[in-house]
Amino acid sequence: MSKPFALEPIEKASADELRALQLTRMRRSLSHAYTNVPRYRAKFDAAGVHPEDLNNLSDLARFPFTTKADLRETYPFGMFAVPMDRIARIHASSGTTGKPTVVGYTKADIDMWADVMARSIRAAGARPGDKLHVSYGYGLFTGGLGAHYGGERLGLAVIPFGGGQTERQVQLMQDFRPEIIMVTPSYMLAIADEMEKQGIDPHACSLRIGIFGAEPWTHQMRDAIESRTSMEAIDIYGLSEVIGPGVAQECIETKDGLTVWEDHFYPEIINPDTGQVLPDGEFGELVFTSLTKEALPIVRYRTRDLTRLLPGTARTMRRIEKITGRSDDMLIIRGVNVFPSQVEELILRQPRLAPHYVLEVTRPDKLDEIAVLVEPRPELAAMNAQDRREVAATLHHAIKSYVGISAEVRLTAVGSIERSIGKARRVLDKRPR
Ligand code: DLL
Repeated sequence: MSKPFALEPIEKASADELRALQLTRMRRSLSHAYTNVPRYRAKFDAAGVHPEDLNNLSDLARFPFTTKADLRETYPFGMFAVPMDRIARIHASSGTTGKPTVVGYTKADIDMWADVMARSIRAAGARPGDKLHVSYGYGLFTGGLGAHYGGERLGLAVIPFGGGQTERQVQLMQDFRPEIIMVTPSYMLAIADEMEKQGIDPHACSLRIGIFGAEPWTHQMRDAIESRTSMEAIDIYGLSEVIGPGVAQECIETKDGLTVWEDHFYPEIINPDTGQVLPDGEFGELVFTSLTKEALPIVRYRTRDLTRLLPGTARTMRRIEKITGRSDDMLIIRGVNVFPSQVEELILRQPRLAPHYVLEVTRPDKLDEIAVLVEPRPELAAMNAQDRREVAATLHHAIKSYVGISAEVRLTAVGSIERSIGKARRVLDKRPR
């Protein structure tokens, strides 16, 4: 095997070695942020802490959080810690409201990102000689270029398709026969639909591994993709503010959650209401501190993603449990908390339903109502009215018993639910503002 395919020493380091490295790097990173970003300096001063107060890793809890608001209020470049002549790349995430979040990278940051992405793709099961088809969007979104640089760093043959043009993607896959695809799980479903439309059995296509992320997806969705194709569906996590994709990666040998590349990104779990740090194993909001970033050092960034930290298995580094929701995706329907992923799980358990769905929230009078729009499987498109009612009633009942809400289930025509070519939109909020 060529060298990039061997584990890096740090992936096998002892916990003590890792903690020592983290402490050294954290000290340097906090001091870099404090010295070069006025907003960090002001926030640390206001909280009465100084980078020199960090004597051990748990002292990080004394430092203030960073949120999306910090990036918005310093838009576009106010959080950059180096002058523009050292910035090599700028990405931005669109965000649903207001200004985008802008992130910058030095040459060394891009290099580190390529390293952690190469490590991620290797952990997902890549082998020398594999061809990597990238269907994450290229451009300001970090998915496409992040995957691209990582694939190249690992020495794979990268096919930079990007999102969209699904028909052509499928044709090209037939001709180029890639072994690996990197794409959002929801777009993978659209690609599989298109294969079937073109008379190609998704089981017979060349893909061996799918590296899926950028949006929440459930274990049931993994099963659905794996049973429909011959791929192993592997989870990749990341966010622009921290670097992009490649913050945490599921290892193919265990498929038991995502290993956090802790030598570069230090994770904490906090109680989202009180901000208190929770012990490993407890559920809460994931928070990250970058340890080696130059252009945009990030200190205790509140991701809004909900999960818990678990001990390492395939690697020494800790894992996060599969993320199935963000605190801002949570709907509160008549006092009951609902995550789209809970409904996804129940839909995927119904053999007659397709995995395409959207939740529509309305407020016809004073109370919120929720409808689940979902399609039958294409081969059941001609289902009679009685069967349709039965399928809808079964899902309604499941949602009522497992989630605790009464949702109207609307079985829509095959193909009527908008297909994503990137991150799927699961909630259509039609409530008056
Ligand atoms: O989505 C980076 C990325 C690209 C990750 C490609 C993986 C693959 P943002 O656009 O900044 O960056 O969105 C980050 O997406 O806070 C999560 O809420 C969600 N997310 C990303 N990966 C996963 C995942 C990219 N594997 C936000 N599971 C994050 C669940 C995910 N949610």
